[in-house]
Amino acid sequence: MSQNILVTGGTGYIGSHMVVRLIESGYTPIIFDNFSNSKPAVLDRIEQITGVRPLLVKGDIRNEQELENLFRNHQIDAVINFAGKKAVGESETDPLLYFSYNVEGTIVLLRVMKKFNVKKFVFSSSATVYGDPGYDEFNEETPLAPINNYGLSKWMIEEVLRKLYKAEPDWSIAILRYFNPVGAHESGLIGEDPNGIPNNLMPFISQVAVGKRAHLNVFGNDYPTRDGTGCRDYIHVMDLVEGHLNALDVLSKGPQLLTVNLGTGGSTSVLELIKAFEKASGKKVPYQICPRRAGDKAAYWTNPSLAKTLLGWTAKRDIETMCKDTWNWQSKNPQGYPD
Ligand code: NAD
Ligand code: UD1
Repeated sequence: MSQNILVTGGTGYIGSHMVVRLIESGYTPIIFDNFSNSKPAVLDRIEQITGVRPLLVKGDIRNEQELENLFRNHQIDAVINFAGKKAVGESETDPLLYFSYNVEGTIVLLRVMKKFNVKKFVFSSSATVYGDPGYDEFNEETPLAPINNYGLSKWMIEEVLRKLYKAEPDWSIAILRYFNPVGAHESGLIGEDPNGIPNNLMPFISQVAVGKRAHLNVFGNDYPTRDGTGCRDYIHVMDLVEGHLNALDVLSKGPQLLTVNLGTGGSTSVLELIKAFEKASGKKVPYQICPRRAGDKAAYWTNPSLAKTLLGWTAKRDIETMCKDTWNWQSKNPQGYPD
């Protein structure tokens, strides 16, 4: 019998790619999303790719009643929680919004799961929980010291999960700390569709390449890195969601709490990413050097060995593929998803 996987935030960037891979792997995803940062057109695209229109329940993870109805009406085997807010700047100006969406929302979800005796949970955490430990290669033992409210909200949820597991060791929980997810499904039918001006590098580069923005601002070229610009561990979104499939497999072996970084173990500078994108797209990406962005670390990447040992997973797709697939999505959908 196919397992039903509740995917909160399943119409968002990472969630939509997860839903595709779940369907392709024989699972039955059930999407729960309030469309605060996504559009219903995503469902048409998922159907185009897989031939299956996933079930969607519209709702907010902070609404206990809506979640209870969902769990009452559907038998759920496991939950992957992507629902949440992720803009660092906004988390500084509106901390309550972030603690409500991310922390309160996850607690409500866990409470309803417990009520319906569903105790398999995969959580989208972020490398941002590490802050700046004074070195660049992070492993899962790197001290947790988030430096913004978004990171703090992720850390708070992780703490809730650690305390929950300590008190109730019959849960199976995977905390997955993502490095920098980029790229799109190879079909170009789904991808990242940021609202307004992108905060992150890859969507900004691709919007410049497609002519939506005039140039990229490079935030600093005086860092102690190969070419002076910031270096990050970019990971293809399809590799990322495949890591979740491995996590689901491991969780099905029995109760446990796993905490794993998902990244490639490599790093790419801003200038290297611009060059790779120009090559993949055949478009020029004009840029200007600007002052450093507050709160940015020069470089960081993961040591990917625990993911390999615990999940049997390693990222397969390289920077060229990440740029090619981003461009395929962006050039086919210059304005993102239709309304
Ligand atoms: P996204 O904004 O594209 O997707 C989030 C989805 O959740 C959206 O469809 C949104 O409508 C929905 N949502 C938000 N709040 C909700 C609520 N209260 N109830 C129901 N639905 C709600 O973001 P994404 O990039 O796909 O990220 C998914 C998760 O991964 C987030 O938790 C994010 O913090 C985490 N993460 C993302 C990145 C990244 O760079 N994209 C990196 C690390 C961690
Ligand atoms: C950002 C978030 C982090 C989140 C991560 C997920 C901040 C401060 N941090 O991290 O919490 O987990 O995304 O992917 O927002 N850059 C430019 N020009 C731009 C945008 C970025 O030069 O227009 C540079 C940055 O200085 C950095 C690199 O590109 O060196 C990557 O930036 P970005 O994509 O925003 O990711 P992070 O800073 O790693």
